[in-house]
Amino acid sequence: MFFEGGIDAYETAAVPSRAYVLHPDMKSARSRRLPEHGLAEAVSLAVALPSIEVIGSEIVRLARIHPGMLFGSGKIEELKTRFKSEEIDLVLVDGTVSPIQQRNLEKEWGVKLLDRTGLILEIFADRARTREGVLQVELAALSYQRTRLVRAWTHLERQRGGLGFVGGPGETQIESDRRAIDDQVVRLKRQLEKVVKTRELHRASRRKVPFPLVALVGYTNAGKSTLFNRMTGADVLAKDMLFATLDPTMRGVVLPSGRKIIASDTVGFISDLPTQLVAAFRATLEEVLEADLILHVRDISHPETAEQAADVNDILASLGVRKTVPMVEVWNKLDLVDPSQRDALLAQAANREGVMAVSALTGEGVDVLLESISATFEEEKSERVLDLSFAEGKRHAWLHDKGVVLSETQTETGWQVSVLWTARQEKRYREL
Ligand code: GTP
Repeated sequence: MFFEGGIDAYETAAVPSRAYVLHPDMKSARSRRLPEHGLAEAVSLAVALPSIEVIGSEIVRLARIHPGMLFGSGKIEELKTRFKSEEIDLVLVDGTVSPIQQRNLEKEWGVKLLDRTGLILEIFADRARTREGVLQVELAALSYQRTRLVRAWTHLERQRGGLGFVGGPGETQIESDRRAIDDQVVRLKRQLEKVVKTRELHRASRRKVPFPLVALVGYTNAGKSTLFNRMTGADVLAKDMLFATLDPTMRGVVLPSGRKIIASDTVGFISDLPTQLVAAFRATLEEVLEADLILHVRDISHPETAEQAADVNDILASLGVRKTVPMVEVWNKLDLVDPSQRDALLAQAANREGVMAVSALTGEGVDVLLESISATFEEEKSERVLDLSFAEGKRHAWLHDKGVVLSETQTETGWQVSVLWTARQEKRYREL
């Protein structure tokens, strides 16, 4: 059992819980995405849990947040009737729900309620495979639960104060719950330290093997596992399920050139991943920090492929991935692209350096991708020191964009930049 707000009780039940997904669309919160896509993603997340059967879903437009209940009273009434007739027992709110709102809504609707963080935690818990993954999820779940306890308690205390009680059984219960959580956190952290140490030993011995590490990253459902299977011939689980891969899976691959690499499949990224979870999952993404090449797998047929790519790049940057690590964008699911747009897309990919269009499903383009991975490792790189004037801002930006900059200092007239690049990149630069 991870946390009180969890749905473990439903997981053990033979009958999956009948769930309803709500996506609050805040007028004030400016988002890069359409609410329809936000709702679709939330439903996919829910479907990824075997213990849930999604009965219905809808977007709830909110002109403002109602502090105690999140939604307006009319909407709450309307939903209450629907939940009753559909026999809903679990409501998933794709957003942040405060502990007080959660308690009030659960009481009003007679359901169990999970917000976005709670749902993602449940999925991570369901998918965690390695010891470290499991421990990290438990830790994140505990810290989530702890904040809920504290805030709910403050609220209760205030209420009781109004009624003239001091303390009370609720307070003692919550206090001791909180202490129990703290104890558990200490225990988990100690275990994690041990696990991480053993892992480091493993990694150190692996790094002695002189094979480059290629990490597949990408938005959830982009097709990483499918591509990984194609590349490695391995049968890693690929389902139409978000988060089918939680802990990195590694396999050796022999490239057409005969060179051996290690390919690593990673957990899918999602938008608005709660900060506490990003920290918890750093460990599972550690391989990315060590990668010699990153394959950024994109579902190019998805209407929000650009937004998804931006999210992935943001997360990679926040994880501290060095800009000098070469990155190839893999435009996947080419087979799903509308025939009328296909040629334009292929031309666009051909025009851009480091972009490969493939279909992991049909295998189209995968051979070319493997060859270009080979080429990345065959190409010699050399170091140069360049002096640029302030007037050469465009070239300066290009160098950073290509991730070839090792270091730079500002001079009176511009920048002195030391770069590490291939002959091909140097040629391109000279042509700018
Ligand atoms: P997460 O584990 O959630 O991060 O997903 P993933 O990126 O590993 O995606 P996965 O390989 O599990 O693929 C997700 C879904 O997309 C599956 O249903 C795949 O069959 C499908 N898929 C993957 N690649 C392609 C492709 O090239 N074309 C088509 N049509 N479907 C694809």
